[in-house]
Amino acid sequence: MTERAVARIDVGAVERNCTRLPKPLCAVVKANGYGHGIGRVAEAALAGGATWLAVATAAEAAEVRRLAADVPVLVMGALTREELQLAIDVGADVVAWSQEVADAAPRVHVKLDTGMGRLGTRDRELALRLAAGPNTVGLMTHFATADELDDDLFAAQLEEFRDFVDEVGRDDLLVHAANSAAALRDPASHFDMVRCGVAIYGLDPFQADPAPHGLEPALSLHSWVAALRRIEPGQSVGYGRRWRAQEPTWVATIPVGYGDGWRRALTNNCDVLIRGSRHPLVGTVSMDNVTVALGAEPSADVGDEVVLIGAQGEERILAEEVARWMGTINYEVTTGLLPRIRREPVR
Ligand SMILES: Cc1ncc(COP(=O)(O)O)c(C=O)c1O
Repeated sequence: MTERAVARIDVGAVERNCTRLPKPLCAVVKANGYGHGIGRVAEAALAGGATWLAVATAAEAAEVRRLAADVPVLVMGALTREELQLAIDVGADVVAWSQEVADAAPRVHVKLDTGMGRLGTRDRELALRLAAGPNTVGLMTHFATADELDDDLFAAQLEEFRDFVDEVGRDDLLVHAANSAAALRDPASHFDMVRCGVAIYGLDPFQADPAPHGLEPALSLHSWVAALRRIEPGQSVGYGRRWRAQEPTWVATIPVGYGDGWRRALTNNCDVLIRGSRHPLVGTVSMDNVTVALGAEPSADVGDEVVLIGAQGEERILAEEVARWMGTINYEVTTGLLPRIRREPVR
């Protein structure tokens, strides 16, 4: 290790995940590729058979356009006038739910809000009018509960969208709705293309284990043992003395903290891997360091590798497990890793 903490990005895993997902596939690479690095995941996704790329912002569209000159790019987010112009200038398609955008952009995908309640229009008459427009090349919606198998909104949204598509009655439009969860759970949601984000990174949209879906996690997070000390019974480590030794305990200091995105919610509440075994994080997560209890013996050396996400020996820690510790979802774990953590592509 030559630096504090590194996220290794297995671009081969992104490529293989894409080969295993339904086609046609639009790879969602917004937010720096969910924290994995937008350029390299876009490239890997295309190598894995994705034929579209989707982003949230015009700036992201400009970034992917630089490396993929001919690939269709869809900007899914809301755009200011200036951002809309940039999206048009880089030849990206945009999402429309107003006459203004439908008139301004040469290629629009009309979005019906079937229950997400965020972007798109709920006004069916407006959506039908926009769908009939000369600049319209696609119809879309977005599911709110595709990842919740016992929720009935998913089926209701799917039915409403299908009914809308039928009423539009144009067979020259690209129809798309499915995010990763929908793509994995219900072929009826696939239409002409699926828009997968989280799954291409080998993360499970259902927050369990990606392996049964044939998905391999692409991101692993590594640091190292920077210091070791023996803490005597009653002594504490870290801010606020939020952990005290009950018995003599060797504690390792790992140079990663909330300044890297290893969040303070993990205080006394996560494991890391050292020499293939799990060890508990003890004490408060600080900006630049965490502390880990090794036990009665100093069972590590300064310089040993520490795995915070990923496998070491027979053990592994999934981003889904870290998400449970943090009280969030895997999306936020990888997207929340801050720029101080260098991303290193590996294969
Ligand atoms: C409109 C839209 N479609 C598709 C996706 C991809 O979702 P997922 O990462 O769950 O596959 C997103 C991501 O949030 C989205 O906003």
